[in-house]
Amino acid sequence: MKYVIGNWKMYCNVSQARQLVAEITTGLTSQSAKDLEIVLCPPFTALYVVYQDIQSLTSLKIKLGAQNCYFMPFGAYTGEISPSQLKDFCQYVILGHSERRRYFAEDDKLINKKIKSAIKFGLKPIVCIGEQKRGDNKEGIFKQAESAISGLQPGQIKKIIFAYEPVWAIGTGKQPEPAYANKIIKEIKNVTKAKVVLYGGSVDGENVGGFVKQPDIDGFLVGGASLSAKEFLKIINQVKEG
Ligand code: PGA
Repeated sequence: MKYVIGNWKMYCNVSQARQLVAEITTGLTSQSAKDLEIVLCPPFTALYVVYQDIQSLTSLKIKLGAQNCYFMPFGAYTGEISPSQLKDFCQYVILGHSERRRYFAEDDKLINKKIKSAIKFGLKPIVCIGEQKRGDNKEGIFKQAESAISGLQPGQIKKIIFAYEPVWAIGTGKQPEPAYANKIIKEIKNVTKAKVVLYGGSVDGENVGGFVKQPDIDGFLVGGASLSAKEFLKIINQVKEG
């Protein structure tokens, strides 16, 4: 099965989120969504309405993800949200996104704790790893991957979805060669024994085709282009066609 995951980041208020969901679901048929795992990751403030809308607007099995969580199940942690709270309506949670690492000083150790907690509460973590600059040594990517799975059993590792996201490719319009991304993704699978590894970084309806053809890329984590229903649907259709 292939994945198309939309990371809306800190965009959309409630009405904009509802509008985007309506446009996406109108453009999808049960045929176009068949054998695909489509996951929307709105901001926290829109999770609940999006949850309600995807339940009522469509019979399509669109899934929901959060963009972050804390590792404690509950407690006096002002401003944080726990995996057990997300579990009410989410199946997935993005963890270790490069923007969390960069702007909120999240390190490998904290991300590993969050991954463990998400799995414990039945969420599937979408774990982002990637090098800072084009041409950087690959070791950093594998260090992040190994740290992510530290202390996990093989059965738990299979619940993780890794997203190979070169930091220099995020929101920049730049991308690695699809064959290079495939090579890194294959190595991530070898190192971690994870089953699903996605590519992310400036994916849009035009350039996704080259990545779709690669044998080891299991789908895409899409940022900017997921905020346009037209672009997001284009990506879905190309992944579907294979
Ligand atoms: P982008 O973002 O598609 O806008 O490059 C991807 C991501 O941050 O997950």
